[in-house]
Amino acid sequence: MAVRNSSTGILSDDKSEQREQLIGMLQKAYWMEVETVMSYIAGSINPDGVRAQEIIESLQEDIQEELGHAQQFARRIKELYGVVPGSLDFTAEQSYLQPPEHQTDIVHVIKGVIEAEKGAIEHYSRIIEFCDGLDWVTQDMVIAIQHDEEGHLRLFEGFIREFEAEGLV
Ligand SMILES: [Fe+2]
Ligand SMILES: [Fe+2]
Repeated sequence: MAVRNSSTGILSDDKSEQREQLIGMLQKAYWMEVETVMSYIAGSINPDGVRAQEIIESLQEDIQEELGHAQQFARRIKELYGVVPGSLDFTAEQSYLQPPEHQTDIVHVIKGVIEAEKGAIEHYSRIIEFCDGLDWVTQDMVIAIQHDEEGHLRLFEGFIREFEAEGLV
């Protein structure tokens, strides 16, 4: 006899359909975080120039946070009876975060980061809404992650403002 999920709420048998949907959203979030780690590693090492140093330092810090987010999403997928996908399922999407033609083009990197953070915030907002009244634990976790992404976005918007003020954008 198969082991039945005895819990109530999101872990119960009658929630299996919504759970599948949620796992799909969490898997997408997991890939977004993993791809962000790859892009931020490149973005924290490739740039040249005096102006790049602040960006490099910020991205170095963010790498650890985004990696932590990926692990949180992965853990939650498992808790919801899902499976963390293997690397062959990965499809890259961050066209805007590819290395620029010139490695002194730090504005390209900043804009790419802003795009990535906005994309994450959009997707995580959908998860937060989907979880409403259904799965408070996932909702709580994603709200906290969303908070981190808003901090990242705000920081990089500040960087771009400086460049705008100097007429460099
Ligand atoms: Fe993240
Ligand atoms: Fe972020």
